[in-house]
Amino acid sequence: MKIKLHDKYFTSFISAREIDAALDEMAVKIAADIGDVVPVFIGVLNGSFMVVSDFVKKYPKPCEVSFVKLASYEGVESTEDIQRLIGLNENVVGRTVVILEDIIDTGNTLECIYDIFNNKGVKDLRIATLFHKKEAFRKDLKIDYIGIEIPNKFIVGYGLDYNGLGRDLPEVYQIKNTQRMTNIVLFGKPGAGKGTQAEFLKTKYNLVHISTGDVFRFNMKNDTELGKLAKSFIDEGQLVPDSVTIDMLQAEVEKNTDANGFIFDGFPRTTAQAEALDAFLDSKNMELSGTVALEANDEILIERLLERGKISGRADDQDEAKIRNRFEEYNEKTAPLIDFYSTQEKFYSVNGIGTIKDITERLSTVIDALKVEA
Ligand code: IMP
Ligand code: MG
Repeated sequence: MKIKLHDKYFTSFISAREIDAALDEMAVKIAADIGDVVPVFIGVLNGSFMVVSDFVKKYPKPCEVSFVKLASYEGVESTEDIQRLIGLNENVVGRTVVILEDIIDTGNTLECIYDIFNNKGVKDLRIATLFHKKEAFRKDLKIDYIGIEIPNKFIVGYGLDYNGLGRDLPEVYQIKNTQRMTNIVLFGKPGAGKGTQAEFLKTKYNLVHISTGDVFRFNMKNDTELGKLAKSFIDEGQLVPDSVTIDMLQAEVEKNTDANGFIFDGFPRTTAQAEALDAFLDSKNMELSGTVALEANDEILIERLLERGKISGRADDQDEAKIRNRFEEYNEKTAPLIDFYSTQEKFYSVNGIGTIKDITERLSTVIDALKVEA
């Protein structure tokens, strides 16, 4: 699941159930260590309100609960200056105090807490945190209890916010770092000029063009296993099965790990493929920048294709009925992708009628705008 808070995107990271399990474990462990002494659990506001509330419900023995406030955080980078502590009204002299934190990041806040509580005559001071970013922690201070170790990436939810938003979420989301790649899907019916335009865009933006059709034709020409399989479908104007296409695409992306980005042409063709592509890109920490449909009228496309068929000899370009069959297939299966990508605010339509140069310019306008946004 993906959410947007202010200008940033976040994806599901730690479920409510995992949080619950971590708190269960912490409660049992702390109770075992402390024994029958009645501790004062002190939450550090604002972030810790959820942790404290859920934790003390799980704590198996009597305890006291209080909160302090110590604002230290603005935006997504931990700031160096720590402010003073407010809100501690309890007398903690001679008590067992357990500081309950939502998250310990650089440790600046923790250091401040140590300084303050070390001067308050506390008998036994312990630190517990639900989340800990080990790689970001820069202090030589003891953390007694850690619920879940997390990588050094910004998270929200379960009390944690990004500029005020996200504290209310019952689970935790991790920030999606904005990629520097430009990954584009080019849509269009056969004959719309995807291949021609991809050639120009590839050079202009230094992208790798992955045309599923070209890769299949290469395999067919060389009579590979994949080629023979693909040929049986393509000759009938049918789509090649997803599993074959996805494996091939994955191999192409993996061959070009240092690319500025990719132009996917001929894939995805169905919503199922679009979901598979999203999942695959996500696993590589990549995402689509945008999808562009080259729009053109059917009769113009048929004319273009029949011309192309005469020259190339491509069987599927020489028969008007087969061409219309491919258009049907496009309308039926690919058109729903417009909705799919519109929902993600990643769909753009470009007029595919005109000179090659004009169309390249229209496409460039869309792509340049994508790059500005990223
Ligand atoms: P530290 O002082 O760097 O350890 O940061 C502690 C405080 O920074 C926490 O109490 C949070 O308020 C905030 N913080 C640190 N990391 C995150 C995060 O990933 N998301 C939201 N807030 C964070
Ligand atoms: Mg905090």
